[in-house]
Formats: sequence, C-alpha cells, structure tokens
Amino acid sequence: MIRKLKLRLLNIVKGRGGNIALSPQAYLIWNKIKLSGNNNQLTVFGNGKFRRCTISVKGDNNLIEIEDGANISFSNLEIVGSNCLIRIGKKTDIGGAYLSAKGESTRLTIGESCMFSRNINVMTYDGHPIYDANTREVLNHPQDICIGNHVWVAANASILKGVTVHDGSIIAFGAIVTKNVEAKTIVAGSPAKTIKSNISWEH
Ligand SMILES: CC(C)(COP(=O)(O)OP(=O)(O)OC[C@H]1O[C@@H](n2cnc3c(N)ncnc32)[C@H](O)[C@@H]1OP(=O)(O)O)[C@@H](O)C(=O)NCCC(=O)NCCS
Repeated sequence: MIRKLKLRLLNIVKGRGGNIALSPQAYLIWNKIKLSGNNNQLTVFGNGKFRRCTISVKGDNNLIEIEDGANISFSNLEIVGSNCLIRIGKKTDIGGAYLSAKGESTRLTIGESCMFSRNINVMTYDGHPIYDANTREVLNHPQDICIGNHVWVAANASILKGVTVHDGSIIAFGAIVTKNVEAKTIVAGSPAKTIKSNISWEH
C-alpha cells in the first residue's frame, strides 16, 4: 500500500479543469497529466496502469476512462473539445500510441484485450479544416473511431477518423486505415486493404 502511494507521487499533475478518480489498485507512474477547462474527468478502474504517458484534456465535460487491467505506457492521450470520450477496455495493452479525440461529442473507444504496439496514431480529426472551395462547406469533420475487442495493431500503424475496426482483426505494420475493417481480418498498406480473412490470433 505504501509503495503504491509513493509511485503515484511521481506523476506531474497540472490544471484545475477536472477531476482524477483512481481506484485503490490503479497504478500510475511518471506520467504528465493536465486537465484544463471545466468538468473533465480521468477515471482509472481496477488495476488499470499508466506509465510514462502524457494525458492532456482541454475543454469542457470530457472523459477519459481506463478499465480494469488495461496497461498503457509511453503514450499520449489528448482531448481538445467538449463532451468527448476516450475509453480503453479491460486488459488492453498499449505500448506507444497517440490517441486523440478532438471536436464536439467525439468518441474514441478501444475494446477489451487489444494489443497495440509502438508508434501508433489513432486520431478522430485531421487537425485542420478542409473546405469545398466553392461552397465553403467543411469536408473533414471529426468522426468517432471504434476499435472492437481483441484487435492487434502492429507498429507504425495509423487509424484515421470515422473508422470502425471489428473484433479479432489485425492492423499490419505501417498500415494507414481509412475504412472500416471487418471482423477477423488482416489489413495492410496505405490505404489499408484486406490481405487475409477469417483469421484468429493470440498474445
Ligand atoms: C500483420 C502481419 C503479422 C501479417 O503477417 P502474415 O499474415 O504472415 O502476412 P504475409 O507475410 O503472409 O503477407 C500477406 C500479403 O500481405 C503483404 N503484407 C504483409 N504485411 C504487410 C504490410 N505490413 N504492409 C503491406 N503489405 C503487407 C505481403 O507482401 C503479402 O502480399 P502478397 O499476397 O501480394 O504476396 C505482418 O504484416 C505484420 O504487421 N508484422 C509486424 C507486427 C508487429 O509490428 N509486431 C510488433 C510487436 S506487436
């Protein structure tokens, strides 16, 4: 118990824009956490773990939830906007990812028992608006990303706005995913295409 409390002290926490709720078993070490705005919430359930991560929330009524047994290290979680959500499911392991939810009511959800390698980008927004030159209509609004259960995301892969990855799939090394991925499927390349179907994989 004493050791756990000590480890929590090694985090740098800034900003007064919300609340951090940690279960008694949550394990946080060497993270930088900044919540600015109003009514933001970071919740770590069960023995969810954060190591050497940067967590930044700017805006109002945003939520980051880490479920029991999730293990996130060397990653950057960022929310800019309002009513956005980043949720990471039970027993999901992330070794180095940039997870970004930007916009209004945008959700980035990752299911249970997923495995994310290094240098992975998952972004609900492109970062800058693109317009139709005639109508000035915005062409690239933020869109939710939903990653199912037991999905393996290999190193250097990126998953862009609006994508749903269904259960049991694999995103290959370096893939850039712009369209939905069927269950139990391997996708590879840029833009990612199916290379194998009806597969299963294990840790
Ligand atoms: C996803 C992965 C495991 C698939 O391996 P696999 O099932 O053995 O795939 P294969 O080698 O049989 O390749 C099948 C086809 O896809 C192509 N392909 C495989 N991986 C590819 C990739 N990352 N990008 C583009 N094309 C790829 C192959 O060239 C082959 O094409 P062909 O049918 O025209 O010959 C592998 O691509 C991968 O990403 N490995 C790296 C995993 C990683 O990052 N591990 C880090 C620790 S988690």
